[in-house]
Amino acid sequence: MQIAVLLGAPGSGKGTQAKRLTEAGFKHYSTGDMLRSAIKTGTPLGTKASTFMDKGELVPDSIMIDLIADTFSSLSPDSKILLDGFPRTVPQAEALDAKPMTQVGVALNFELPESLLVERLTGRRTCQECGATYHVKFIPPKTPGVCDRCGSKALIQRSDDTEAVVLKRLEVFKKQNSGLLEYYTKKGVLITVRADQEPQALQAEILKKLATWSK
Ligand code: AP5
Repeated sequence: MQIAVLLGAPGSGKGTQAKRLTEAGFKHYSTGDMLRSAIKTGTPLGTKASTFMDKGELVPDSIMIDLIADTFSSLSPDSKILLDGFPRTVPQAEALDAKPMTQVGVALNFELPESLLVERLTGRRTCQECGATYHVKFIPPKTPGVCDRCGSKALIQRSDDTEAVVLKRLEVFKKQNSGLLEYYTKKGVLITVRADQEPQALQAEILKKLATWSK
């Protein structure tokens, strides 16, 4: 498998870019989306995960590592994957590299000034039907309150996008991030992009950087 992991703070634009890059043949796997879907359908995983997510904390490594191993077990070896939200810790990164099939080829680091993150997250709206994301100010839907992609009127604020939970998520991110950057720098696969660009310009930069790696 060809695996690129997306690193960066909550709100740095990982999900927005990953969804756009599926058009270039990448499969997008977001652990946050997987957990939210498990919560929505009321599975035991969802029940367990929601107690951590509601507080802005990380779900334990053992649960997340099993979830990814399970997801990847059914994929074909020639899959091109963008992994968004995993790894969040060094043990998660080590678990990927421990298996020959899931070695990480590129770690794409989204860098964004901290001052922008809270506004991006508290202004995010997500379509409950198809998962498309918008921002009330930066990336609004064409018709207010209506999803451009599927026409649904169910554009909601994620329960962990309130200011109090956002601040906790950023604190958790800061604790884990330097270890991950060090891990992928040592492995020689870290690429940093400036995430405070227009979405289209950032997408072009990412595609250019990924082109040298993925054929
Ligand atoms: P997860 O869903 O992964 O959330 P996150 O990492 O906090 O990332 P976000 O989805 O909030 O941000 P993003 O970078 O994707 O930003 P987006 O593109 O939407 O995780 C949620 C929770 O699940 C965690 O807190 C944890 O509890 C648990 N979890 C998940 N994975 C785990 C793991 N591996 N281990 C343990 N726990 C785990 O953009 C944000 C906003 O900005 C949007 O409104 C968007 O429209 C706007 N925007 C995007 N790009 C631009 C741009 N270029 N210019 C202007 N606005 C932009």
